[in-house]
Amino acid sequence: MELNKGADYGWDMSMITVPSVLFVCLGNICRSPLAEAAFRKVAQDAGLDVRVDSAGTGDWHVGKGPDQRAIATAARHGIDIAYYRARQLAVEDFARFTHIFALDHANLEDIRAREPRDASASVALLLDVVPGREGQSVADPYFGDDAGFEVTWRDVMQAAEALAARMIV
Ligand code: 4NP
Repeated sequence: MELNKGADYGWDMSMITVPSVLFVCLGNICRSPLAEAAFRKVAQDAGLDVRVDSAGTGDWHVGKGPDQRAIATAARHGIDIAYYRARQLAVEDFARFTHIFALDHANLEDIRAREPRDASASVALLLDVVPGREGQSVADPYFGDDAGFEVTWRDVMQAAEALAARMIV
């Protein structure tokens, strides 16, 4: 029977890991919540079965909602993120997620510094998934003006679309 074909090869459907993606920035109140929101939307629209979350390398904002400017930016694009709550990257995340994406190079260094030897998650810079933008950071909009958050949204949406396209094929 077609659906049970895997049994012939000694594996079953329970061995297939659902992709799970964690976006990580510094505070988990500006960029990574927007990355989470963008990818949730794109994955849902594409019918992808994927788990999505975000975290910060720092702990200053743990338990707080996103920055008001991030909430407003997501809302402008039809997405409510007001209920998101910041949390800090935990060592367990390296086993819980299949993919961990850093929003900038400093985040990537901080993530790698906490990576346990037996980590199963693959760790990468987010914009590495966008052809032509490899090695680029998503700029931190926290100390800037509202316009910076719209730039963040464009960056994370571009990455979300590229990531979803990779997962579909
Ligand atoms: P995020 O932005 O890393 O994109 O969430 C920041 C949020 C807070 C701070 C810095 C960046 N902070 O210094 O408190």
